[in-house]
Amino acid sequence: MESYHITGGKYLEGEYRLRGAKNAVLPILAATIISGRTSIIKNCPHLSDIRTMAAILKEMGCGVSWTESTVSVDSSPLNSFRIPQNLMKEIRSSVFLMGPTIARCGQVILSDPGGCAIGKRPIDIHLTALRLLGVDIKEEEGLLKCSAKALKGAAVPLSFPSVGATENVMMAAVMAQGETRIINPAREPEVVDLQNYLVSCGADITGAGGKEIRIKGGLPLHESEYKPIPDRIEGGTILAAVAAAKGKVLLKEAIPEHLEAILDRLSESGCNVRKDSGAIYLEAPERLLAVTPMETQPYPGFPTDMQSQFVALMCCADGTTKITESIFENRFKHVAELNKMGADIIINGRTATIKGVSRLRGCRVTAADLRGGASLVIAGLAAEGSTIVDNISHIDRGYERLEDILGGLGAQIVRTKTTKESGKQ
Ligand code: UD1
Repeated sequence: MESYHITGGKYLEGEYRLRGAKNAVLPILAATIISGRTSIIKNCPHLSDIRTMAAILKEMGCGVSWTESTVSVDSSPLNSFRIPQNLMKEIRSSVFLMGPTIARCGQVILSDPGGCAIGKRPIDIHLTALRLLGVDIKEEEGLLKCSAKALKGAAVPLSFPSVGATENVMMAAVMAQGETRIINPAREPEVVDLQNYLVSCGADITGAGGKEIRIKGGLPLHESEYKPIPDRIEGGTILAAVAAAKGKVLLKEAIPEHLEAILDRLSESGCNVRKDSGAIYLEAPERLLAVTPMETQPYPGFPTDMQSQFVALMCCADGTTKITESIFENRFKHVAELNKMGADIIINGRTATIKGVSRLRGCRVTAADLRGGASLVIAGLAAEGSTIVDNISHIDRGYERLEDILGGLGAQIVRTKTTKESGKQ
């Protein structure tokens, strides 16, 4: 097991250039299957989830190569419609392979997707939507077997704007005969990015980011070279870390409008936030202020992927903040750990009531999921003394060496190995 050792109370200052967005790159890598050609995807962060997705594509027969942050996928030799079960369990995003594999092969066999344990995370909306496109779905011996003699375009209303379901339907519909209309789709920037990638391959898709997405299916696709959007959640996490450590930072290669809900809350907490085209500047106040009650919502609302980091931030604020988690039912595992550090947080149903304290105290805590792990690092930066965050493999799923990112801004954070048996470093 690896851990972070953090010495709190260091001033953070500097610049950081955002990497490509994990949640944009993953579905785009899955979508490279559809064209049967070569796609060159730039700006890919070196993250364990992305390596796993690349490994799945390789196991399905694709030629995959990395050069620095560029991944090249030649999907012409694809020879399997089975998503390897062992790898599927490692990442939730493997569910994105459903739509593309059906589009390319007319069938797909997969097991339950893995990923962060932050709730039930069912895939019923994906399945209902794919059935509308003519996909027959059977569950046998713990496997989902999906097949379609011919995919047919259809009106696909979603009961909830699920990001994953929207993306799966878009990818399957690219190879369906006729027009598909996704009604009530997710509007996240990563959905728009998937549209832009597919259009760069020759697909006819419009409307992503709005109330309805229209896909005219059946067009031949070609090679593509594509650069996914910068990571708004990496950006939000760094801003929260700098705010907690009372520092200042310039985020470069950012798209400020993608972080609007996050920036509004940071401004409300007393941070000086300035937006420019392609950059965000933040300077923290001497003492953060509590913010008015907030809840996580589908985009353009406050992202669930920033809830944990904001809970940590509000521990250091003057006053009481209420944060409601509306998207996932089990996303407060960081709270017990933050309370060990001297935070004063009470959970009632889906709402955390955070009473700001004058200081957090460093201690040994454990990351239970990706963003919850990031929140413990943020708390460690703000805390007095040293903090050890165990189980940082969760954090590695979403940040490319967080110790280098924060260390570059002046944080004292070191990665160490702990042997499981002894608990020693
Ligand atoms: C979610 C986030 C996304 C984030 C990603 C990674 C939202 C709306 N989505 O996307 O921004 O990048 O996590 O952390 O914030 N649901 C069902 N049935 C389904 C699919 C989803 O009930 O078939 C429910 C989920 O249990 C959850 C909600 O819908 O409560 C959001 O799901 P969805 O948007 O699909 O999740 P992700 O695609 O994982």
